[in-house]
Amino acid sequence: MGRHKRRRTLFASRHYAMGQVQRCKCHPKNTQAKAFSAHGNAAANQRGWNTSETWPNTSGTVNVLCFDCHNSHGSSVAGTTTSYTSATTNGAILKDTTAGKGGYAMTYKPQVEGSAAGKNLSNPGASLCIDCHMTQDSGATPWGYQDTFGSTQQIVGYWEKPYWTGAAGVNPSGAQMRYPYKNLIGSQGGHFGASSSLTSQVMGTIGGLCTPCHDPHGVSPTLGANQTYGVPLLKGTWMTSPYKEDAAPSATNVRVSFSGEKGSGGTTAASTPGYHIDQNTFSTGWNWSTSTTSGKITQTDAQFAGLCLRCHAKTAINPTTGAATWKSVDRIHNTVKGWGGSGANANNAVHAYTCSKCHTPHNSCLPRLVVTNCLDFSHRGQVGSGGAPNRASGRGEKGSGSGQFPAGGGGRSEKGGSGQANAFGARSCHDNTNTSGWPNNQRWNAVTPWGTQGTPTNIGGGGKGDRGGGGDGWGGY
Ligand code: HEC
Ligand code: HEC
Ligand code: HEC
Ligand code: HEC
Ligand code: HEC
Repeated sequence: MGRHKRRRTLFASRHYAMGQVQRCKCHPKNTQAKAFSAHGNAAANQRGWNTSETWPNTSGTVNVLCFDCHNSHGSSVAGTTTSYTSATTNGAILKDTTAGKGGYAMTYKPQVEGSAAGKNLSNPGASLCIDCHMTQDSGATPWGYQDTFGSTQQIVGYWEKPYWTGAAGVNPSGAQMRYPYKNLIGSQGGHFGASSSLTSQVMGTIGGLCTPCHDPHGVSPTLGANQTYGVPLLKGTWMTSPYKEDAAPSATNVRVSFSGEKGSGGTTAASTPGYHIDQNTFSTGWNWSTSTTSGKITQTDAQFAGLCLRCHAKTAINPTTGAATWKSVDRIHNTVKGWGGSGANANNAVHAYTCSKCHTPHNSCLPRLVVTNCLDFSHRGQVGSGGAPNRASGRGEKGSGSGQFPAGGGGRSEKGGSGQANAFGARSCHDNTNTSGWPNNQRWNAVTPWGTQGTPTNIGGGGKGDRGGGGDGWGGY
């Protein structure tokens, strides 16, 4: 490998897109600078994650060069290797090595890996990427992410199980290591095998390759001013989620109280919500805002979804502009920034999301590449099943208060004033969108819930006191 190491610096900026960007300002990972070519400008690229949201940089400084992926003459790699067809889909002269030839000690050739049943069937063109990203040291392979390139962590995303497959409890993703209750479900699939057949038309194929979405050489300058939305090595635009990870609330015994002149009310059975929406991401604290101009992202779908929209047209996944059936694909996508909205969300007054609020691009343990099941109240307390949302109301002589999952609550008293006890106050969230009874009316999709609801414990608890009041429900999540 000595020969290769010496040549590594020579190529540095010749054929790769150079430059560097900083991304997603409202998330702790904004500290990571991304190079336009992570492979060709490794020293400038920062990457990596841990399970405490401090986003350490685990990138190396050694570049991945042409000959790490290509042979200079022929290649014996069989099967699908490229996202384009010239005469065949077997172009690009991808890397293979033979022990004893060209200075290599190993015989290596990327193969078909994974399985259709595991929903991770990858063709040789993708196995090349996976073999290097997942293998620490060279030996069986001509390189390893650590001993050759100096990266100190597998080159794998936070949301996906390594190799994009695995049963419950096996091979955990970053999110599953961080929250054990998320580790109680296995891989559902994704772009190497959908969780179930799509209901919408798709214009394009993935074919077990990475290169329909990634350009291993660098972000194309043809993206112009939107090139900054092309990291990491993307063929179109995308915006990493600016929202912190959603999780079910951990504590179910949070005390929320409200006091009036002569008494107080409240509950000791509330929770602090663990969901992250526009109103607690772009505002300070829990700040209910329906402004369509502030407290929302400024980007357009051409910036945060250009890559996806090449294959999933807006007309396919958000066909109508008005109120479609609650929980339908069409209605859910009314929450996308710039896609209109309906009812209380008209003009994106409440939700103005990026695709990455809800989806991850590779693989997920929730169906449809979704990464959040916020408002699946059966996980309250961070349990797999049996959690229950809370709702409470109470009345003193001259005061009252109430609250419920998911918004929280507030109270009012004759002389003590009124106040908001937790989260967003007594606000109706999804209450008026559908005819299901509380709490089922809060669920916003039909595919992510997986636990069974337990028995609500605190319905009806509440306030007390002479002229005090108060009461609160579960602050939601
Ligand atoms: C990380 C692996 C990797 C590295 C490094 C790499 N390539 Fe490639 N290259 C590929 C893959 C994979 C394809 C097929 C692309 C596709 O499927 O769209 C490809 C395609 C090509 C093509 C065909 C035309 C095209 O652009 O798609 C050329 C030419 C090429 N590479 C040259 C180079 C040169 C020169 C370098 C060094 C500056 C280089 N490559 C570095 C993986 C790599
Ligand atoms: C020979 C090893 C090798 C191969 C083959 C390889 N990569 Fe990489 N890749 C790396 C290394 C090392 C990094 C980390 C660079 C750094 O930041 O130090 C990386 C980084 C990346 C990143 C950026 C990750 C980030 O968080 O910034 C993407 C995207 C990526 N590779 C895609 C691909 C794709 C797609 C292929 C196959 C076409 C591929 N890679 C093939 C070694 C490889
Ligand atoms: C459907 C498009 C698509 C396909 C197919 C795809 N990627 Fe990605 N990949 C993305 C997008 C978009 C991101 C950026 C995710 C983010 O930042 O939120 C990404 C991010 C990455 C990263 C950085 C992960 C991180 O979070 O640190 C790596 C590495 C990577 N991809 C490698 C691959 C490899 C290897 C393959 C094939 C085995 C592949 N990708 C297939 C779209 C795709
Ligand atoms: C090159 C075309 C292409 C691109 C680009 C693309 N997709 Fe897909 N997507 C597909 C295809 C094809 C399927 C169906 C795969 C199957 O049936 O196995 C799919 C499936 C999906 C699914 C359903 C997965 C499941 O497990 O049920 C979601 C969600 C999705 N894509 C979202 C996205 C997002 C978000 C992006 C942008 C990062 C994106 N797609 C980019 C082609 C694409
Ligand atoms: C508020 C969360 C949310 C946002 C934001 C969101 N999605 Fe989805 N998306 C979902 C859910 C949930 C489903 C599954 C709904 C179902 O199958 O009933 C879905 C389904 C899909 C599907 C599969 C449709 C099918 O054929 O069944 C695609 C493709 C998709 N989304 C792409 C996108 C793209 C691209 C964006 C951004 C422009 C986006 N989504 C934004 C939550 C979201």
